[in-house]
Amino acid sequence: MPRDRSDIRAIKGRIDVVSVISRYVSLKKAGASHKGKCPFHKDDTPSFVVSAEKGLWHCFGCGEGGDIIGFLMKIERISFVEAARRLAAEAGVEFHAAEEDGERETLRSVMADAAGHFAENLRDASAGKRARDYLVSRGYGEDAWAQYGLGCALPGWENLKRALRSRHEERQLVELGLLVEGEKGVYDRFRDRTIFPVLDLSGRPIAFGGRALEGEPKYLNSPKTPLFDKGRTLYGLSWAREAFTATHAAVLVEGYTDVLTLHCAGLTNAVASMGTALTQGQADLLSRFVEEVVIVYDRDAAGGAAALRGMQILGNSGLTVRVARLAEGEDPDSVVREGGAGAMREALAGAVPFYRFYVEELRDRLDPSSIGGKERILSEAREFSSGIRSLPLRQAFATELSGLLDLPTEGILREIGRGRRLRSATDAMHAATEAWLPEENLLVLLLRGEIDWKRVSAVLSVDDFSPQNRPIAQALAETEESSNISELVEDLDEASARRVSHYALAAVQFDDVQRATDDALLRLVQIPSIEKRLSDLDTQIAMCEKQENWDRWNELERERVALVSEKLARRGMHGKEG
Ligand code: GTP
Ligand code: MN
Repeated sequence: MPRDRSDIRAIKGRIDVVSVISRYVSLKKAGASHKGKCPFHKDDTPSFVVSAEKGLWHCFGCGEGGDIIGFLMKIERISFVEAARRLAAEAGVEFHAAEEDGERETLRSVMADAAGHFAENLRDASAGKRARDYLVSRGYGEDAWAQYGLGCALPGWENLKRALRSRHEERQLVELGLLVEGEKGVYDRFRDRTIFPVLDLSGRPIAFGGRALEGEPKYLNSPKTPLFDKGRTLYGLSWAREAFTATHAAVLVEGYTDVLTLHCAGLTNAVASMGTALTQGQADLLSRFVEEVVIVYDRDAAGGAAALRGMQILGNSGLTVRVARLAEGEDPDSVVREGGAGAMREALAGAVPFYRFYVEELRDRLDPSSIGGKERILSEAREFSSGIRSLPLRQAFATELSGLLDLPTEGILREIGRGRRLRSATDAMHAATEAWLPEENLLVLLLRGEIDWKRVSAVLSVDDFSPQNRPIAQALAETEESSNISELVEDLDEASARRVSHYALAAVQFDDVQRATDDALLRLVQIPSIEKRLSDLDTQIAMCEKQENWDRWNELERERVALVSEKLARRGMHGKEG
């Protein structure tokens, strides 16, 4: 996003990071920085560090971190532009949002107008009657219409088009998916439907879901637009935020009506993935707010491939994942309507870890008492297991299976571990060396300003860094020496920005900076050739797998594990975090 750099620089130059953050977190001076309890996770010990001098903050508990604009964005859940604007006002400097941000602002106002149009329709004495009756029959009265911004699209092809034409450009209405281009011109996408606006974190409409009053498809969603990416959006998130903060848990449901019914019943931590196919983007979103997710899908959908994949994605994102089982034919909406909030709470309380849910699914679908059944179960379990990244989770899964199949856990773990061999060996070794890698030591030294990029670039190129650190190395290579490192994070993605604050504020001690630098450089220089051999090996191993040549596979696998150890040893640590 093009941004006016001098404005941002001026803002950062005048804002005292510590005093702004102190409004949200009680900070105490600790050495050159300040410390407090992290506002972004349940923090018992003060793991949240702020450096006024560097203009950065970082939580060593949950890993969040960045510059002051990023802090404000996270804590107030506002956009970059909004955060910069507020800080600019406070600092008394001018801030010109880039063109692009102005365009998005316009698009947002178009969506707000469209939502207003749909809401008006719903209140129209005659035209809105059918949708009103429908909503009331589902248990959503006037309060709910207002609270959740419900509305309706009228029958006919040009209602919205006519209503918005005078105030907005047709091009934008098309870009937002409100109008569709046909052979004879553009017409309304949403016709004769009850409308559920999908809101962003600040509560502004970015998309619509429309449920047919009759006919197909049952639901019609906005397409992907500059404001809306379904894979990065959860329906109900803006309403669930408060409950997330209180409970650190989310209830994940499939549909619009599930969310509304749960919220109306006081279960306000419900959000919907809008179908069963949860994406990594949605999981990332959830993991920003909660530690646990309880999935409640329609019975038949819960065991489906899409739902199972979603569970793995959530688990791999570090979330505790449980699944609540509903009776045949029920969904969260129907459970609450028939049995009240109590029935739903009961179902939630009975939720089981997702791997247990899966094992129970296998038990019900395949016959665990016959040999053939056991084999089918093992083969499906191997595939499922290969999608789980965490070793402890796979172990828990194996234990569960061992109970079902009446086989020893170790044997099962060996069986289901195979699909995952590549990651597991590496992961296990990584877990064992929970300390700083030479490459990270270099970044710490660079970000603290103790050494220069030139010193590194004499020996290594940006590409020699591991993929996760490459963006940072790239940014360092491009940065002018004079600039403050809080400027470095401006062009980085969120994950890289968190790494930067982590490295810059880490309390690593080096007895001898020069030696630590040499040592790290020396180890890293050898890595590229190892990487190359490893990538060759991966190809060959994959081939053996296809040909089921297990002898050769074993040989190659042994070499691969040895090389990975070698690589890790070279990346191995020097300084220790203290
Ligand atoms: P009601 O039957 O109105 O209570 O809706 P529901 O939420 O129970 O519907 P269902 O369980 O069939 O689907 C769950 C969710 O999947 C919906 O809320 C939609 O987000 C999505 N969905 C369902 N049907 C369709 C469809 O035909 N098209 C699209 N794009 N999404 C759908
Ligand atoms: Mn449903």
